[in-house]
Amino acid sequence: VIRLPRAGACAAPADPAVYDRPVIGIVTHPGDGAAGRIDNGTSTSYIGASYVKFVEAGGARVIPLIYNEPDERLLEKLSLVNGVLFTGGSVKRGPYFETIKKVFQYVLDKNDAGVPFPLFAQCLGFELVSMIVSKV
Ligand SMILES: *[C@@H]1O[C@H](CO)[C@@H](O)[C@H](O)[C@H]1NC(C)=O
Repeated sequence: VIRLPRAGACAAPADPAVYDRPVIGIVTHPGDGAAGRIDNGTSTSYIGASYVKFVEAGGARVIPLIYNEPDERLLEKLSLVNGVLFTGGSVKRGPYFETIKKVFQYVLDKNDAGVPFPLFAQCLGFELVSMIVSKV
């Protein structure tokens, strides 16, 4: 049985000025996402569009968590989202991994405090979570 959304389940909020659906933070991945064809700069990062579409298909909105932005901005953004997504990719060390560790700790702290705060970790993202948990 495939259950489709009920009529009205995805209706716009009564007050269009209020957005009451979840907002999900996606941690950007280092690089331009195009093997350097667009930008080789180390300050460049990206989110594959499929991750944004995946989250939006679930009715949520996305804000990017830029992997190398200052901690205070990262923490401010985390305080504004309902959950986080770690994408696939290739980078397993350096500032990116450090940011993933911080965000993962934030997820643990929220849940330990009794505040449901989901994390979806795809492919590399799941590997990084495994590395953090197993302390590799
Ligand atoms: C990035 O580096 C690669 C490999 O050196 C090069 O082929 C490519 O043109 C560079 N991209 C840009 C935008 O400069």
